[in-house]
Amino acid sequence: TTGKVTLDYGFGNTANCESNITYIDGGNGILRYRGYPIEELARESTFIEVCYLLIYGELPDAPSLERFTHVIKRNRLLPEDFIAFFGAFPSNGHPMSVLQAGVAGLATYYEDTLNPLDPDQLDAATFQLLGKLPTMVSMIAKRAEGLPTLYPDSSRDLTEDFIRMTFGLPYQSYDIDPAMVRALDTLFILHADHEQNCSTSTVRFVGSSHANLYASVASAIGALSGPLHGGANEAVLRMLIQMRDTDMTVKQFVEKVKNKEEGIKLMGFGHRVYKSYDPRAAIVKESAHEVLSRLGKADKLLDLATELEEVALSDDYFISRNLYPNVDFYTGLIYRAMGFRMKMFTPLFAIGRLPGWIAQYREMIKDPATKIARPRQVYIGETERHYTSLRSRG
Ligand code: SDX
Repeated sequence: TTGKVTLDYGFGNTANCESNITYIDGGNGILRYRGYPIEELARESTFIEVCYLLIYGELPDAPSLERFTHVIKRNRLLPEDFIAFFGAFPSNGHPMSVLQAGVAGLATYYEDTLNPLDPDQLDAATFQLLGKLPTMVSMIAKRAEGLPTLYPDSSRDLTEDFIRMTFGLPYQSYDIDPAMVRALDTLFILHADHEQNCSTSTVRFVGSSHANLYASVASAIGALSGPLHGGANEAVLRMLIQMRDTDMTVKQFVEKVKNKEEGIKLMGFGHRVYKSYDPRAAIVKESAHEVLSRLGKADKLLDLATELEEVALSDDYFISRNLYPNVDFYTGLIYRAMGFRMKMFTPLFAIGRLPGWIAQYREMIKDPATKIARPRQVYIGETERHYTSLRSRG
């Protein structure tokens, strides 16, 4: 009741957890995976290579990358009875709810990969998830459209084949645009990890009880679905569409935000850590203009978003509160230009974030100092009192 309370979240240390995976300097807008600047990885690397880097700590040499790529390809197919279970969800259910249930359900199909203290089982669960999540997301997207799903084609790389499974149709050739593959691969890299954000802390919390990797990742998907977290990319598009469809000017909308009318927020702005421009947002903004012009899809909503950013960043309300665009502000515009429905935006975030969740779970489970997460509380309720009979309570 006096002095500063230090909350022990049970990661073997106090409120902040130690990790050697991702470094963020929120004041200067710096993000590095295993020491490599996000700008270099987004420009030079591939998503599969970044998965390897986050999980094993080093960039792979050619043989290691080939083996890693091959073992993930071998795990991309979904078992037929899993397809029956996964396909039984309502096709109009929110994709994040279906994905969360599906990932948790994977544990019932792979009983011999559940023990996180067995390195071989933990590797097996790692590859099952890395291989199957994109296949599951493409299946959800197809079922939402009432269209037939496609099986993975292991001759193709992960991101390219995810696009084919999501937009291609059986017995019809589908020309995959290399620019679209590159843009989506870069977006997956940008989302791959972000130290102790809400969903990653959830993975660590749940995993600290030695719950299996599927259960921990399913919990993280639940956390990511919230509109204050990964659900923001979908919320940004809904905000822009509402402005467009109600002919609301940017200045009118900004005034509503500043007056906090009905708790309205400028979605895609603000961050718990970045009190400057999110370095990922800068890369996504540049890519948005490139992708939209490449796909020949000029979008009034991009102009609206750009104007909204300009007006907000010249307004002291936002500057004084360190509110800048975050990774979610422009990503939805690219996904939309690629042809994804809004409800698919956050599952796309989940595909990108999966290697980060896995890397952080593996780091936590292998750390001998890790204890089960058990936050302490400061009790501010009633002091002791005694039971009274119903009759005496009037
Ligand atoms: C992600 O943690 C991560 O790393 C997350 C993430 C990742 O990669 O995992 O980066 C991904 O989740 C990005 C964030 C996506 N969410 C949104 O875009 C939703 C909109 N943003 C806000 O809800 C908010 O900015 C948060 C939740 C992201 C951060 O909130 P903070 O830092 O806790 O800020 P706060 O709630 O303490 O607010 C401080 C002030 C308040 O005003 P006052 O009370 O001082 O008057 O800023 C205001 C807030 O009302 N404010 C906003 C605002 N965000 C904060 N006002 C308008 N619009 C906003 N978006």
